[in-house]
Amino acid sequence: MNYENILTTTEKGITTITINRPSKLNALNKATINELHNAFKAADEAAETKVIIITGSGEKAFVAGADISEFADFSVENGGKLAAEGQALLFDFVENLSTPVIAAVNGFALGGGLELAMSAHFRVASDNAKMGLPEVSLGVIPGYGGTQRLPQLIGKGRAMEMVMTAGMIDANKALSYGLVNHVVAPEELITLAEKIANKIMRNSSVAISKAIKAVNANFEDGVNGFNVEVEQFGACFGTEDFKEGTTAFLEKRKADFPGK
Ligand code: COA
Repeated sequence: MNYENILTTTEKGITTITINRPSKLNALNKATINELHNAFKAADEAAETKVIIITGSGEKAFVAGADISEFADFSVENGGKLAAEGQALLFDFVENLSTPVIAAVNGFALGGGLELAMSAHFRVASDNAKMGLPEVSLGVIPGYGGTQRLPQLIGKGRAMEMVMTAGMIDANKALSYGLVNHVVAPEELITLAEKIANKIMRNSSVAISKAIKAVNANFEDGVNGFNVEVEQFGACFGTEDFKEGTTAFLEKRKADFPGK
């Protein structure tokens, strides 16, 4: 598929989606959100894609937020719709994909940019990355899941401080908060994400997709995550991957998972 605002490549099981509006610091306008939805959906459905990496083009920004120029004159109704549609198309969508998504945060991840990184299953960052939710400095609040996912990831008190001050934290603080899992030099960022992706790919993709469901259930209102875990655990026993994984172990060989 041809995109105007993003680039996608698939190589050796890894689909890399790069947001490519460097002159606007990769800000998320409506067109980019739609393209990202299509690219994530296509990658999730592609048998050759085992892991997705999301990053930003250029050395300065992952994503500097939602595109402010697009919503500056919105009404109350339009504002609510912007958040609801964005959450459904991109942020909730990414969090609930069956394929693991790693955000490689390569610079500013602000507002919708940090919200996108937080929708990924986990994050790695370059040492020049800066993260924050500056929305209240614009007279609005995070609308793409930031008020929910930031406290889930770093705790309520730290999230409240970040949201209220609209301040940015650097990569090392993000690491100490648990917001990102690893920090490396900018030139090593994609290599690190690919290295982790390769470790993931050695395992059963079917089991991984069930594990994503079970972990996410911990954060869903009205859902008992332990019950979801029991259900997903049981379902694994009906998969070819389970047969291959256990047989390979007993035969003392490396498993070759069919991904079914
Ligand atoms: N929406 C729309 N355009 C944006 C943007 C956003 N969120 N973030 C950056 N841009 C644009 C700038 O308007 C500028 O465009 P121009 O060259 O046509 O004027 C371009 O990207 C470069 O940004 P600039 O502000 O000149 O870079 P900087 O290095 O001086 O500052 C930031 C970098 C990230 C600190 C600054 O761009 C910023 O504060 N951005 C907004 C962050 C934000 O509030 N995000 C939350 C939105 S809800």
